[in-house]
Amino acid sequence: MALFSRKIARIPSPVLRVFGVLFIFALTFLLLLEVDNLASQTKTIIGHNLEPTPWHAFPAKNFENETKIGRASMIVRCSYLSCRTKSKDRQTMLTGESEKCPDFYGWIHQDLEPWSNTRISQALLMEAKKFASLHIVIIGGKLYVEYYYSCVQSRALFTVWGLLQLLRRYPGMVPDVDLMFDCMDRPIIHRNIHSAMPLPIFRYCTTPDHFDIPFPDWSFWGWAELRLGPWQDEFQSIKQGSQAMSWEKKFPYAYWKGNPDVGSPVREELLFCNDTNKWGAQILHQNWTQEILDGFKNSKLSSQCNHRYKIYAEGYAWSVSLKYILSCGCVPLIIKPQYEDFFSRGLFPLENYWPISSTNICPSIKTAVEWGNSHPSEAEAIGKAVQDFMERLNIDRIYDYMYHLITEYAKLQDFKPVRPSTALEECVGSLLCYADENQREYLERSAASPSPSPPCKLPPSNAEMIKKRIEAKNEILNKTQLLI
Ligand SMILES: *[C@@H]1O[C@H](CO)[C@@H](O)[C@H](O)[C@H]1NC(C)=O
Ligand SMILES: *[C@@H]1O[C@H](CO)[C@@H](O)[C@H](O)[C@H]1NC(C)=O
Ligand SMILES: *[C@@H]1O[C@H](CO)[C@@H](O)[C@H](O)[C@H]1NC(C)=O
Ligand SMILES: *[C@@H]1O[C@H](CO)[C@@H](O)[C@H](O)[C@H]1NC(C)=O
Repeated sequence: MALFSRKIARIPSPVLRVFGVLFIFALTFLLLLEVDNLASQTKTIIGHNLEPTPWHAFPAKNFENETKIGRASMIVRCSYLSCRTKSKDRQTMLTGESEKCPDFYGWIHQDLEPWSNTRISQALLMEAKKFASLHIVIIGGKLYVEYYYSCVQSRALFTVWGLLQLLRRYPGMVPDVDLMFDCMDRPIIHRNIHSAMPLPIFRYCTTPDHFDIPFPDWSFWGWAELRLGPWQDEFQSIKQGSQAMSWEKKFPYAYWKGNPDVGSPVREELLFCNDTNKWGAQILHQNWTQEILDGFKNSKLSSQCNHRYKIYAEGYAWSVSLKYILSCGCVPLIIKPQYEDFFSRGLFPLENYWPISSTNICPSIKTAVEWGNSHPSEAEAIGKAVQDFMERLNIDRIYDYMYHLITEYAKLQDFKPVRPSTALEECVGSLLCYADENQREYLERSAASPSPSPPCKLPPSNAEMIKKRIEAKNEILNKTQLLI
């Protein structure tokens, strides 16, 4: 130390000062360069530096209203400085009793069956990557995300939020996992095309012809752009709204309000049924642009349960509206869907909805409405049964579905997940950091806390039972088609 200071002292001080200043300049310059570099390369959960998915085009997000400095500082703050504190959630003592999961949770085994013998290798995931927008890796209860493509609106934010809340709800219990996720609408891994090598991709819906693995969609935590709150809040307010009118007082015809301009043939067809006398149906156009201007006064779901029948029509793929329609306590008239989400497979015709033909929509609605109006107590019972079904599917059960699906999937991995070199850690702090004021409100309202009881008990694999149920369903669908 003494030697060092003596040496320094020999250098004339003005030279030293110039060096010092130059050094600081260079350092600042390098730092700015590095920050600029980060800002122009870091892919973020709200879509910075990401292109829309090529398989489902949508207008690219623009961040032009942000200044370069503003953007850089946000990215550094949110992506690099937010997740440094240790999470305080520990594995809790689970004291409560574990309930039995709803029967349809058995579909988890069915969805993962394609990999039950071959298992899931890292090489397989690299193939699946071609169809993914997000790569999600959980290691030791920490969540890492690699972003490949941008997701429409705030889907990525709310989907990743849901996963973080799962980790919070069951601290120390979610296994290490490595999975590919696509946040766009339509399933993509067709069974015919990919039979030789099924690719595991998580998404919000599937069909019997696809390998895509259905997972709860973002709207269970909220759909900020449409002012739809977290599922538990929406369900409660819809249920309350549904009690505003007794069954006898409810309008004795079918109701649909939505956006027909989403490239959905059944929704376009449905517009022709808009005649309460002729078809027993009222079809209304939901103009979201107008709704946003009006402050969402006329789109409150809780005030849309005043009809005895509510029509469900798929959009571009499955529609998040299903869960709200089923919560109304009305008879759901479900136009034969092509897509299924994780819970719609638990529905059974005539028990908790009335099936509507997709090729003969208006006459089929008329038949259903006439049946219901001449069998009021049976119709009311269907409405009650499906509302109860949705009440049992509360947010705790949604976490249980995610927990079991991820746990069963993780058992199939033939490798130990490692953090991808370009994946960023995401945590509650980083998501709240990127959220705008409106999104933040929904995120905070849907925050989970550690569960006092273990997840519900997953039913064992039973392919035979699922097959029988599908056959029984088809038989009823065939019979009701004949009624028209
Ligand atoms: C930029 O615009 C988007 C909406 O178009 C808004 O959410 C965001 O807060 C704006 N950012 C800034 C920095 O003004
Ligand atoms: C359906 O008919 C009603 C009443 O005639 C009308 O107000 C409404 O705009 C119609 N809906 C559509 C989508 O055209
Ligand atoms: C929806 O509302 C907006 C704003 O009032 C209007 O400009 C637009 O034409 C409407 N779209 C349709 C399909 O009616
Ligand atoms: C339903 O009808 C279709 C065609 O009409 C037939 O192929 C199928 O076997 C029937 N399914 C059942 C379960 O009756």
